[in-house]
Amino acid sequence: MSKGVKPVSRIVGLGVSYPDNIMTNQDLEKIVETNDEWITTRTGIKERHLVKRGERTSDFCIRAAREALAEAGIAAEELDAIILGTISGDLRFPATATLIQEAIGAKNAAAWDISATCSGFMFSLYSADTLIAANRAKNVLVLGAELLTPITDWSDRGTCVLFGDAAGAAVVTRATDDRGVLSVVIGSNGSYTDLLYCVGHGTSSKGELAALNGERVIHMNGNEVFRHAVRMLERTAKEAVEKAGLDPADVDWLIPHQANTRIIAATAERLGLPMEKVFLNIHKYGNTSSASVPLAMYEARKEGALRDGQVMLSVVFGGGFTWGGAVIRF
Ligand code: UT7
Repeated sequence: MSKGVKPVSRIVGLGVSYPDNIMTNQDLEKIVETNDEWITTRTGIKERHLVKRGERTSDFCIRAAREALAEAGIAAEELDAIILGTISGDLRFPATATLIQEAIGAKNAAAWDISATCSGFMFSLYSADTLIAANRAKNVLVLGAELLTPITDWSDRGTCVLFGDAAGAAVVTRATDDRGVLSVVIGSNGSYTDLLYCVGHGTSSKGELAALNGERVIHMNGNEVFRHAVRMLERTAKEAVEKAGLDPADVDWLIPHQANTRIIAATAERLGLPMEKVFLNIHKYGNTSSASVPLAMYEARKEGALRDGQVMLSVVFGGGFTWGGAVIRF
């Protein structure tokens, strides 16, 4: 019997989708006063995928969902729930999850979106694990998807170099042995709204945000967010590992939210994990918000890095603030 608690749920299929269109750091040099050297050393990003006009969040979700279901060997009709973490859905309403439901034919599933910024996938995974533990669902499709580049201020070099567009999906079902989600934790602190937000179509009519009404772009105080992120990622990682009944030394892979290589390196160091145990793909995609963890998990599996029986730790942090972590044995 493996070390650690007995899992309730398990990921049995993963899928991803992202736009073909690539923007390199050199391309960005033509838009704002920046350079490849600054972006690479300060963030780890070399290129990102950008949505084209007419492409929608649901388009990428549907492709990712179909791939995840195919790997899982589960039919869409067998899904009890579809939970999508996104702050950039197709429409103000209905939930983008319902558009996915219709497209894949998941007629027995309840479908809803969760707004938790970069922690959206983790919040959705938490919900799936909880539903399965409570016997309220057997098979749940969990997604994280974001098209952030249409809500990026392309004149702000502090944010426009960071983001990319993508979708990731996971089919979560009941665990039958020691493989699965050993722990999943989430949290929020609404004291820091002014450090990372987007007014967009919100109904805020009072206070400072009202002055910005009509704006549709992301605002971030990167420096401050960085500081909070490192602190919370360490704390959340330790909580997730403890709840899993493991020690950091039992972790084979750290697969964190891909926001900044320096944040990730600082987190790994605080956990005593060498960088060889850290899976990075930020150089290819930038910060894809709620899609970043399923996208990194997917690539870690496809590349043969994250093997059957190995334990991965994931931690995320985003606007809200929101955060979360999970320990999963594959
Ligand atoms: O995913 C959700 C959570 N989000 C995050 O985790 C993001 C957290 N923050 C970060 O990743 C980093 O704070 C950034 C990458 C956004 C910025 O890196 P930094 O090391 O914190 O840079 P800074 O904001 O302190 O700026 C340092 C300098 C400034 O110039 P001065 O004032 O020292 O002359 C900036 O104006 O770098 C300048 N700068 C740039 N220079 C070239 C800022 N952006 C750029 C740029 N190119 N793109």
